[in-house]
Amino acid sequence: MTPVEVTELGSHVGSEVLIQGWLYNKRSSGKVRFVLVRDGTGLVQGVVTPDADPTAFELADSLPQESTLRLTGTVRTEPRAPGGYEISVTRIEPLHVPKAPFPIGLKEHGTGFLMDHRHLWIRMRRQTPVLRIRDGVLWAIRSFFRERGFVATESPVLVGTSVEGTTTLFPLDYFGTPAYLSQSGQLYLEATCAALGKVYWIGPVFRAEKSKTRRHLIEFWMAEGEQAFLDHVGNLALQEDLVRYVVEAVAAEHSRDLAELERDPAVLLREVGGPFPRITYHEAVALVQKAGVSMAVGDDFGAPAEDALSQHFGRPVFVERFPAVIKPFYMKRDPERPDLALCADLIAPEGYGEIIGGSQRVDTEEELLRQLREAGLPIEPYDWYLDLRRWGAVPHAGFGLGVERTVQWLAGIAHIREAIPFPRTLDRLYP
Ligand code: 4AD
Ligand code: MG
Repeated sequence: MTPVEVTELGSHVGSEVLIQGWLYNKRSSGKVRFVLVRDGTGLVQGVVTPDADPTAFELADSLPQESTLRLTGTVRTEPRAPGGYEISVTRIEPLHVPKAPFPIGLKEHGTGFLMDHRHLWIRMRRQTPVLRIRDGVLWAIRSFFRERGFVATESPVLVGTSVEGTTTLFPLDYFGTPAYLSQSGQLYLEATCAALGKVYWIGPVFRAEKSKTRRHLIEFWMAEGEQAFLDHVGNLALQEDLVRYVVEAVAAEHSRDLAELERDPAVLLREVGGPFPRITYHEAVALVQKAGVSMAVGDDFGAPAEDALSQHFGRPVFVERFPAVIKPFYMKRDPERPDLALCADLIAPEGYGEIIGGSQRVDTEEELLRQLREAGLPIEPYDWYLDLRRWGAVPHAGFGLGVERTVQWLAGIAHIREAIPFPRTLDRLYP
């Protein structure tokens, strides 16, 4: 018999099917045994009665959690069962029976314990929908860029220069030459965008950040876009379109996963339903201060400040034109206010923090040399990057979207560590 996946059960009502999966949970009620089986696509309940195969009945009693098995039976509609279908089991074939109890029971466990067992924890009920939503976010980003004619061009992960300041670099020894793990693929996208016009990549980036917040990872995935002949205003429009596209795709394609997480897609759709507000850095500081969060002009937004902004707007909000001194060297200055950068951060609603950082880029050699010097960076390693302003210089702009922060928001989860299969945090390199 050809195996059927749990998500396909709806088209097999009344027929006999074969399900392959793992025993998630079981219970008994009088003379009936219930086995809850997961197969990676979903969970289904099997009902074993004494008039079924006696071995099946015995196995339903004896098999421990996370036994691997094949289960045969007839599909019935059962609105009270998880997923809406039930299987009247005729046969259970065990494939692997664990010798010890599964470390993660169905009771509550501490975070440290769960993180130590992350390789097993990902099988559990609230984890699989998050990972499927993550897949949905990544696919949506790719199809958005593809529909818009952007070309995927990968940036290297081993690099010789910093992008986002020198304090969060991971140093490496590259056969005797100092090297780093990339903080962002942006500089290379600026080169490929001068070759192809519109480019993007989605890749892992690294920040040796000593932050232990629920929004920070040491290794995370960034989706970055870069476009030639794009200015600051066009950049914001592109980002807004991307975020709305991703949210709509996830709401449409992951309703089952969102429901399992008790996340209402209508809330997400409402949040991205209208235009995203745009306020200046200075307006944002005033707003944050008015909300009672202490912050001075010239400070970057901390978590409490971002939360105050997201509470005020209840939808994604762009904070534009930061003081150039608190932003990286590559941002173009506002010609009318050279102390400000032509940049914006997009703050997610509901307190999920900054999900995008972007800007128009410096496009002349003179400005870039000046800003590199002002940032205290050496010129020589950026010589190739300066070349982009020596030949075919062009106004251009781009941005980077934090994939895990976006997943965190859409899935509605408290901590970013559950938005990636194997999180790298300040105190964790295992498993
Ligand atoms: O704002 P960031 O640092 O921007 C850049 O790196 C630019 N070079 C991107 C570009 O213009 N191409 O990072 C972009 C996004 C942030 O808005 C945030 O969502 C996410 O990356 N991010 C992190 N996510 C998880 N953990 C961290 N430590 C993060 N740091 C940034
Ligand atoms: Mg940023």
